[in-house]
Amino acid sequence: MTRAAESIRGEVAVRNLSKSFPLQGAMRPVLRDLSLHIRSGEALAIVGPSGCGKTTLLRLLAGLETPDRGEVLIDGRPVSGVGTERAVIYQEPRLLPWLTVLDNVAFGLDVRGLPASRAREQARHYIHLVGLTDFQNAYPRQLSGGMAQRVGIARALTIRPEILLLDEPLGALDAMTKLTMQEELTRIWAEENVTTILVTHDLEEAIFLADRVLVLSTDGAAPTTIPVELPRPRDRNSAEFVQLRKRLMGKFGLH
Ligand SMILES: Nc1ncnc2c1ncn2[C@@H]1O[C@H](COP(=O)(O)OP(=O)(O)OP(=O)(O)O)[C@@H](O)[C@H]1O
Ligand SMILES: [Mg+2]
Repeated sequence: MTRAAESIRGEVAVRNLSKSFPLQGAMRPVLRDLSLHIRSGEALAIVGPSGCGKTTLLRLLAGLETPDRGEVLIDGRPVSGVGTERAVIYQEPRLLPWLTVLDNVAFGLDVRGLPASRAREQARHYIHLVGLTDFQNAYPRQLSGGMAQRVGIARALTIRPEILLLDEPLGALDAMTKLTMQEELTRIWAEENVTTILVTHDLEEAIFLADRVLVLSTDGAAPTTIPVELPRPRDRNSAEFVQLRKRLMGKFGLH
């Protein structure tokens, strides 16, 4: 069954979410009464200055953190912990060094008890999707940073999550690899249609990849969202793109 034929899945509702952390003997609010709806298949980017709560929000969505108030609903069901319908991708891919690319990608299915041959068949599909077929028998130490991150993406997709949560997945890559990976992600999402929530420091990356950009701040200002209604693949040099980038930078007093 293709993804398109499946019923609507991967819808996220954030309702009145608040989270504080202790700082020097007092509770410091990080997220205050945040409400947000993310459509099935939507790509949402989260941007904002260091410490504004991007990772905290992602961890709340992943079920790795519990809210002080409010809730996260996935397909109408409240999140109470981690779940197999969500996959998290971090800045470092955290591959198992003693396993080949193929076995790393199949790992999530192996631990779920899928027969080895079926797990590898599914893994090969996603290795192909991220363009690493020639490297399926390589070990992580033989890969570049960008290739390792692509293995991490294939591993996450192989378990067929409804929702991908990415915390600065391209943040550790050099500038050129990063641009290539942004194009790759656009292509992968066109095929997968998985709901994607992507934390990034890079405002241009947010506009290049997302359907909507959520802007968080550290000064207590209310979060805002900016829709990005540009056709894909996006042209970073188009007047509309440049205009949106200016608007987003303006939110942070940058130009
Ligand atoms: N487990 C924790 N205990 C105490 N404070 C925490 C904890 N997790 C996060 N914080 C605090 O919450 C705030 C937001 O942290 P968070 O990691 O979400 O920021 P961020 O937006 O992801 O920043 P960066 O862009 O630097 O990754 C920070 O001030 C951080 O110190
Ligand atoms: Mg962070």
